[in-house]
Amino acid sequence: MSLADVGSEVGSSVGSATEALRAALGDRRPRVAITMGSGLGGLGARIEDPIEIPYTELPAWPLTTVVGHAGKVVAGTLGGVAVLGLSGRVHVYEGAETARAIFYVRVLEELEVPILFLSNAAGAIHPTFAPGDLMLISDHINMMFRSPLIGPVHEGEQRFPDLSDPYDPELRSIVRETALELGVGLQEGVYAAMHGPAYETPAEIRMLERFGADAVGMSTVPEVIAARAGGIRCVAVSCLTNYAAGVTSEPLDHEEVLEVTVQVQDDFERLVAGSIARFE
Ligand code: HPA
Repeated sequence: MSLADVGSEVGSSVGSATEALRAALGDRRPRVAITMGSGLGGLGARIEDPIEIPYTELPAWPLTTVVGHAGKVVAGTLGGVAVLGLSGRVHVYEGAETARAIFYVRVLEELEVPILFLSNAAGAIHPTFAPGDLMLISDHINMMFRSPLIGPVHEGEQRFPDLSDPYDPELRSIVRETALELGVGLQEGVYAAMHGPAYETPAEIRMLERFGADAVGMSTVPEVIAARAGGIRCVAVSCLTNYAAGVTSEPLDHEEVLEVTVQVQDDFERLVAGSIARFE
């Protein structure tokens, strides 16, 4: 199947998933969707008055196979704001074409959710960043070299969307101010997305550093591209779980990534919940 064919197949099943989700949500109108990255799904437990909808109950919803990702939608309120938590996402490395990785973003577009708050686990490249740091994403570099927008133009989107401010400056200021007020340490930097699934080589990390990347991961960028094309405002925080390859002599493993997310979980959750409460 060509990329364009995957795009149109996904396009036609978004409607039925949206209808099923809309029915489950009843009169809830989420203002902010939150994508919870690897090991960061604990935020779902902070959502008040929750209803949980497993992805398996939503027709055609792509299912994830990664440990640390639950696979459900949690709708409720966080800091008094109506939210839609997405625990688990499919990644390009699972075999999903980028068009499938952004399935949920298209559903959010249909539901007219105005803001998307993404999170992910990432490796630290910047010399003063360390595992356990949270990093507000200021911009990204798409090293997946694929766009989720390949194929027919999705209804309501433009052929050539502008990405000069992919991460909303106003929402980023709110996250920065919230971090200061809560005493949560927050770095800010550029996220490079590789498609993985192998972690990078030290030579690749040196290249990414020279390109201007401060952190590296395997998600988020396809979703932000699609969300911006659909007019959704984005903001994203990386949890730096390890030094990127070659920064130290330590080998990388997914267990370590999940362990570090447990340590920073509380700060991460307070930062996201506190910020969202201030979003207009
Ligand atoms: N590289 C890519 N993805 C990651 C990393 C990394 O070092 N850590 C967590 N996700």
